[in-house]
Parts: sequence; C-alpha cells; structure tokens
Amino acid sequence: MAKADLDWENLGFAYRSLPQRYVSNYANGTWDEGGLTSDSTVAISECAGILQYCQEVFEGLKAYETADGHIVTFRPDLNAARMYDSAAYLEMPSFPKERFLEAVDAVVKANRDYVPPYGTDASLYLRPFIFASGEVIGVKPADEYQFRLFATPVGSYFKGGIKPIRLCVSAFDRAAPHGTGHIKAGLNYAMSLHAYMAAHAAGFDENMFLDAATRTHVEETGGANFLFIKKDGTVVTPKSPSILPSVTRRSLVYIAEHVLGLKVEHRPVAFEELNDFAECGLCGTAAVISPVGSVTHGDQVIAFPSGMEHMGPVLQKLYDTLRGIQLGTVEAPEGWIRKIC
Ligand code: PLP
Ligand code: COI
Repeated sequence: MAKADLDWENLGFAYRSLPQRYVSNYANGTWDEGGLTSDSTVAISECAGILQYCQEVFEGLKAYETADGHIVTFRPDLNAARMYDSAAYLEMPSFPKERFLEAVDAVVKANRDYVPPYGTDASLYLRPFIFASGEVIGVKPADEYQFRLFATPVGSYFKGGIKPIRLCVSAFDRAAPHGTGHIKAGLNYAMSLHAYMAAHAAGFDENMFLDAATRTHVEETGGANFLFIKKDGTVVTPKSPSILPSVTRRSLVYIAEHVLGLKVEHRPVAFEELNDFAECGLCGTAAVISPVGSVTHGDQVIAFPSGMEHMGPVLQKLYDTLRGIQLGTVEAPEGWIRKIC
C-alpha cells in the first residue's frame, strides 16, 4: 500500500473525507453490530434529537506513524472512558469502551494510507461521536442514536504552527458551575462560537475563559487546557469542576513529575497570578502544546517572559517528551501506546 499523495506539511486543521468510517446504530435498547462504510453522509429525520435539542457528544484523538514504521494511537482508552461518561451525562446510551477501541483500530487500518508519514508534523485525527437520531419534540432524551467515527489527516491547529499565540479574556462564559463544561458535548462548542468570532474580530487567536461564577480564576480555552510554568520551573495547571479533563494535560502532568522530575501544582489558578508565570501554553489533542505569548484582559496585557518567537524551555521539554512517546522515540509509560499495525 502506498501513502496518499497529500501535501503533508500543509494540511492545516481541516476535514477531508477519507474512504472508510465506522457506524453503529442504537435502537430498542441495544447497539447493533456496526461496521465500516464508505458513506460519509447521514440521513436522519428533521425531528431528530440532535437537530432539535443538540443531544450529541464527541471525542478527539490521533493516530501516528512511529519512527519504526508502525501505526499507533495514544491512550485511546481514556477517550473511550471520557465518551462513556459524557454520554451518560447527556442521558444517551454509552458506547462500550472495548467497541470504541475496536472502531478506532478498524478506521485507522482502513485508512492507513492517510496516516501522515513519520517526520512530518501531521497526524491522523479521529473524531468519534454519538448523536440522537431518534425523533423528539417534547424535551426529553431520544430513543435512537448513532455512533460514528471518521478520520481526517491534520497538521497544526493554529495557523502559525508552533509560534506563540495571543489570547484575550472572553467577555462570555464557556461553562456554568454544575453545567456541562466537564463533558465533551457539542453544545459547549456551539455556545463558544460567538466568543471565538469576537476574539478573532479583535485580532486574537483564542479566548481565555474565566470561571463563570466569580470571573477571577482561569478555566480553559474553547478547545484546550492551560499549562503555566513558574519561574522556578514548577508546572501549574488549573483545577475546576467545569474544565474538560484533557487527556493531554493528564499525560503531561505525569511526564512532568515522573519523567522530567518537575514539581506540579494542580489547583485553582487566580487570573492575578498570571503576572508571576514565566511560560504559558495550551494543551490538547488538536493543540498538542501551543505556546501562548500574551493574554489581554481589557486594558491589561500580560506578556509572558518566554516572548512571541519561541516556546519557553520547560514547555519545549514537555512537548519533546510527549511527541517522542507518541512517535516511539521515547519509552512510553505502561499502557499509553496502542499499536494498531
Ligand atoms: N478542553 C477542551 C474544551 C477541549 O475541547 C479539548 C479537546 O479535546 C481539550 C481541553 C483537550 O483535551 P484532550 O487533551 O483530551 O484532547
Ligand atoms: C481536540 O483537541 O481533539 C478537540 O476536540 C479540540 C477542538 C478541535 C474541538
């Protein structure tokens, strides 16, 4: 099999319809056998729960070609578990975790030619999701659902690649206390779009969302958690019940403590503390680690000492170690890498 003829270095973060995806349908209280299909379209009732009341959850993970030519995924069991929890929270049937992993393997294998070659900065992004396909008109959970998982090759999430980005503190909130911020539901992203467009119109790359109750503590961006580095090299990452538990952040915390021997603080982070940090970055599957150069809050501009040209040295070490684990050049902690072929 030959690799697809794509411009691997300039993919951006965009959707490209690949030959195969996985589909399983839920009806009468059970998921059907499911399988691969070449049909990239979905036909549903105009009254489907997803269209009326946004009953949908999703995940994001990546497959990589390693230095020795294998195709692997990174901690897909954590995505399976998070999707299980997200679905339960939105009163949807959870998709069995073992079947989630089988679907990932099947889609990656079937689209193997589209896994970007080792040595490029690209990877194969996997998007599993469950949506309400059953009809509802009164506000209640549907009784039919579809699990679907497609793949698309992607490059860096932010346009400048790994150049530091500029954030602004959003005038809007992402997640309410006791709301849905901790689950990966499409509705969280729908309501972030107005804030996203406002930030872009004002010349910023992304929003920093503060806690909705007091607007004094840092939460996350629309699609990534925060990492801060203190001047003594300590890693600080915000803790809040309305932040999505990022697989990347949890992995980087482990790497910082157990591989790099750094101190880590996972705790509420007051916005006022930003002045004391040496480095700031976003972390997530799509973002990997994206350095942040500055955060603007009204008239106040916080410019991190790491500057607008490069990632700071501690974030760079975390980035190199994480990428090394994903690409097979750094030994992975037990159970982190799932070899597909
Ligand atoms: N926070 C939000 C709101 C996200 O959408 C994502 C992306 O999945 C993340 C954080 C990062 O999570 P992960 O590292 O599991 O991709
Ligand atoms: C991811 O990092 O996988 C995400 O889902 C973030 C964003 C693209 C929604």
